[in-house]
Amino acid sequence: MNYKITLLPGDGIGTEIMESAVQILNAIEKKYDVTFQYKEELFGGASLDNHGIPLTDETIQTCFDSDAVLLGAVGGYQWESLEHHLKPEAGLLKLRKSLELFCNIRPAKVYQGLLDGSSLKKEVLAGTDFVVFRELTGGIYFGEPRGLDENSGWNTMKYSKSEVERIARLAFDTAKTRKKQLMSVDKANVLECSQYWRQVVQEVHKDYPDVTLQNIYVDNAAMQIVRDPKQFDVLLTSNLFGDILSDIAGMITGSLGMLPSASLGEKYALYEPVHGSAPDIAGQNKANPIAMIASVAMMLEHSFKMNDAAKNIETAIEKTLENGYRTADIFADGSNLVSTTEMTGKILANMK
Ligand code: IPM
Ligand code: MG
Repeated sequence: MNYKITLLPGDGIGTEIMESAVQILNAIEKKYDVTFQYKEELFGGASLDNHGIPLTDETIQTCFDSDAVLLGAVGGYQWESLEHHLKPEAGLLKLRKSLELFCNIRPAKVYQGLLDGSSLKKEVLAGTDFVVFRELTGGIYFGEPRGLDENSGWNTMKYSKSEVERIARLAFDTAKTRKKQLMSVDKANVLECSQYWRQVVQEVHKDYPDVTLQNIYVDNAAMQIVRDPKQFDVLLTSNLFGDILSDIAGMITGSLGMLPSASLGEKYALYEPVHGSAPDIAGQNKANPIAMIASVAMMLEHSFKMNDAAKNIETAIEKTLENGYRTADIFADGSNLVSTTEMTGKILANMK
């Protein structure tokens, strides 16, 4: 098979971790019956500096023409004071919307080797393995009306039936293959939007009688993730709540630098680390490439159905951590501090 992949390294550490991703893909090509064809495009601040906007139509077209998109990270201090629609983040939102990537999957799995690295207690964390399904193209991120004037700022949180239904189905499908438990997170005690969300999720549940559905308020969910993360298996939630909960989930795994994600739509798919562009350490070969490398594994599994290859990468990451190698973000006493390129090299060696 031959697959076309669009590479969007973006800004900050994005370019460094994208190099790691390509090295991993080169190793996959050697080991499995597959070839990858890349097209790289500017995105975010890098695109702003060259084209005046964070996402050009050409870049969107390249994404349309490919089998999957790999994204590094966007953003940086120098673009923070720009008008809202020019910010690198606006480019990311436009990309998600243009590719109709309504389903964002963010797995939160604790690596055995990192149990000591989290700010939470080992016994609370051990065995944690859940996945967040975050709605990505609706809700308050995109609702109209929205605006800002001298006296106020406003946004609209709104969900339609089809928007809730399609992501609920994907979350239930995954729940079926795991522990058959789905928790839908909302704020139905206050928001009509959440009441409607809950109603639609309950309707979809009728098609999945073997899955247990629980509804939970988002404030309680945030508390429970930190108190007892093992109780969760599949979490389903809206755009804003998912943004917040997935960062919390990231920390329980030791570092945001560990968390991959997949953003799926009917036609397109994009894979990116959950962390940002980390401008403070950019260009210093210090970034943790694991979230990016794990995002490559998610791409192989979801877009190309190469489950063995995905497993090969995941096992190599686990082994490398067990061998004691750590980038600065997950460094602990007694471990072996490595750079971005060294960590990538260790993972490559463990893929053999
Ligand atoms: C994320 C990020 C983005 C979001 C930002 C960069 C727009 O925080 O992917 O979680 O809010 O969705
Ligand atoms: Mg976020």
